Amino acid sequence: MSETPKTPVAILLSGRGSNATALIEACARPDFPARICLVLSNKPDAPGLDMARAAGLETVAIDHRLYKKDRKAHERAVDAALQKAGAEVVCLAGYMRLLTPFLTTQWAGKMLNIHPSLLPVFPGLHTHERALDAGVRIHGCTVHLVTEGMDEGPILGQAAVPVLPGDTAEGLAARVLRQEHQLYPEVLRRYLTKSPASTPAEAALLVA
Ligand code: GRF
Repeated sequence: MSETPKTPVAILLSGRGSNATALIEACARPDFPARICLVLSNKPDAPGLDMARAAGLETVAIDHRLYKKDRKAHERAVDAALQKAGAEVVCLAGYMRLLTPFLTTQWAGKMLNIHPSLLPVFPGLHTHERALDAGVRIHGCTVHLVTEGMDEGPILGQAAVPVLPGDTAEGLAARVLRQEHQLYPEVLRRYLTKSPASTPAEAALLVA
C-alpha cells in the first residue's frame, strides 16, 4: 500500500493553540497529506508552543518586541525560520500579528488562516460579541487564503453555527471553536489534495 505524501506545513500562533492542536492531531494520521515541520510563535510564552514541544515538534519563538516597530525585520526572521524548516504551506492559527505585504507576497497562495466569523462579515476582533450585537441568527468560522487585506483572502471553507436564544459571547465562541477544530484540518486536506468541496453540504457544515 502506498503511503500518502505529506507536505511540510508550518503553524504560526500567538496563544493557547487549540487550532494548532487540531492540525497536529490530523497530521498524525497516516492518511493525512501534511506533516508539521515547525510551530512558530511571536510570543515566547504562548501555551501553544508548550503543547507543540510536548508533541515532539520543532518549535521556535521569534519575539516581535525585540524588533521594536520594524514589522518587516520581524517578518524576515519569521520567513527565514519557515524556509529553514522547509515549510511549503503556512497555517496561521491564532497568530495575532497584522502581516505586511512582505510576508503575504512571499507566501501568496500558500498561507491559510482561520477566522471566527462567516467572512466577509465581522473581520477583525471580538467577532462573537459583534455577531450577538448585530442579531445574526447564523454565525461560524472561515478558513481563507491570506492576502494583504486583513481577513480578506479567498474563502476555502466555512462552518456555520446557529445563534441560540440567550447565547453569550463565551458560549457562542466555544461552539464556534469546536467547529474550527473540524473545519481547519478538513480544509487543509482539501487544499493540499486539490479537491475542493463539490457539494454545498461539503462546503458548509451547518451544525445544529
Ligand atoms: C481562534 O478563534 C481563531 O479562529 C482565531 O484565533 C483563535 C485562536 O484560538 N484566529 P486557538 O489559539 O487556536 O485556541
